[in-house]
Amino acid sequence: MDFEIVNGSVELLVTDCIVVAVADAGKLTPSAQAIDTASAGALKEVIDAGDFDGSHGTTLLLRNLSGVTAKRTLLVGIGKESDRSVAKQQTLIKSVVATVNKMGVKTLTLALDQSSGKDSDIYRDTRLIVEACSAALYQYDTTKSKPATPTKLEHIHLLLDEESTEYGEGALLDGVAIANGVATARELGNLPGNICTPIYLADHAKALADEFDSVSCEILDEKQIESMGMGALYSVGKGSDIPPRLIVLKYEGGEANEAPYALVGKGITFDTGGISLKPGPEMDEMKFDMCGAASVLGTFEAVAEMRLPINLITVVAAAENMPSGRASKPGDVVTTLSGQTVEILNTDAEGRLVLCDALTYVQQFKPQAVIDVATLTGACIIALGHQATGLLANDDSLAAQLLDAGEFAGDRGWQLPLWDEYQTQLDSNFADMANIGGRPAGTITAACFLSRFTKDVSWAHLDIAGVAWNSGKAKGATGRCVPMLTQYLLDVAEQKEA
Ligand code: BES
Ligand code: MN
Ligand code: ZN
Repeated sequence: MDFEIVNGSVELLVTDCIVVAVADAGKLTPSAQAIDTASAGALKEVIDAGDFDGSHGTTLLLRNLSGVTAKRTLLVGIGKESDRSVAKQQTLIKSVVATVNKMGVKTLTLALDQSSGKDSDIYRDTRLIVEACSAALYQYDTTKSKPATPTKLEHIHLLLDEESTEYGEGALLDGVAIANGVATARELGNLPGNICTPIYLADHAKALADEFDSVSCEILDEKQIESMGMGALYSVGKGSDIPPRLIVLKYEGGEANEAPYALVGKGITFDTGGISLKPGPEMDEMKFDMCGAASVLGTFEAVAEMRLPINLITVVAAAENMPSGRASKPGDVVTTLSGQTVEILNTDAEGRLVLCDALTYVQQFKPQAVIDVATLTGACIIALGHQATGLLANDDSLAAQLLDAGEFAGDRGWQLPLWDEYQTQLDSNFADMANIGGRPAGTITAACFLSRFTKDVSWAHLDIAGVAWNSGKAKGATGRCVPMLTQYLLDVAEQKEA
């Protein structure tokens, strides 16, 4: 599937299907108006007859309009201006693409008039359209015996006027890179725990280093993790027969002496809870407990593909959390890479244990900012549901940049407080801190734990427990927060250039 920006009169475009938008009360957008004029009022006729009124999310397929070259014209309703949002637009485009893909359409042309705004709006709209189209066509079939039916759609054309084409082309390239990053994150997330192990994630990182000249990779194995003093990460990995890995990827797009940005991902390839075993129902979904890792790897890939002029380090703490005769027990005390000791009161609070050592490790590279991403707490789902990523930070300006990036990219976060008052919930009689803080404010106390390992650096934590995957019939990884993170890095790259 490829994307292309096209110019020209909408009614004369050579394509299998042209999509134009109609607003509330049957108001025609400029492209819809052009089709209507060319077809001597065919659109007004269906609207006047009451067959289509432009309500948000409705569609109507018309065929062989006279004066229109495309055989199919698909009207999509975009409703009132006050009814529109990025999320709704994305859902609408996804459903249009999924529908059209089932018809005999090889080339689809979207004439959604995103060119009517400012340059920055053209960039954003075009990019978001590309991302939505790609997301709609993703199919998981890796562990099915037969491959999924190949998508029928081969080309998606986006109609822009000539002045907007340059912005559109840039948006298209960025959109494809981000969409690829999202697809990678979804694929890694969807793979079952018996395939996507810490070693599998390490091999994925090595493949990235082979693919891009600007990328290098280093993998620390179980022995190195232990001997270097990453006692917390080691303690989680040791309950499993499959050993842990610390995966370090470096992208050098900036000057050699320039401080890097750092991303850290939770890569628990399966979370049984360990000795503090989880209940049975829906435990299969704990294969998604490496979605933080998936999202930093997807972001890394997008950044390398876009050749952003920055340096980026990505660290994945990968382990399988299992109960066994070698597993940690409640009450065990471990020494972290930072030297601080932790009493493991609950072996199911393992994410913070693997992350704390990765966070300490990454600071040797003197990063400008560190952002960790993790499916860290069930409490985050209770607080924010399945819409917003939870964001906590020791630096409000970094938090604001990430919130803005999420807003722009249609991948939003919401900040929770990281006040000192919450820290006492982690008090332990037997170590410097406990790994759990009780039921109240579980997302905040998890971040408080991490904050003890990031005192000397600008740091933000993204809890994606509620947004990383969908449950139920549409069960599957979402690729969230690849768009937010990539946008943040696009923004820092742009500020640097300016
Ligand atoms: N991976 C889970 C968090 C999680 C649970 C994410 C359900 C998405 C859906 C994490 O390792 C965990 O088990 N956290 C515990 C922490 C508790 C023991 C303090 C939790 O949230 O229950
Ligand atoms: Mn857990
Ligand atoms: Zn977990």
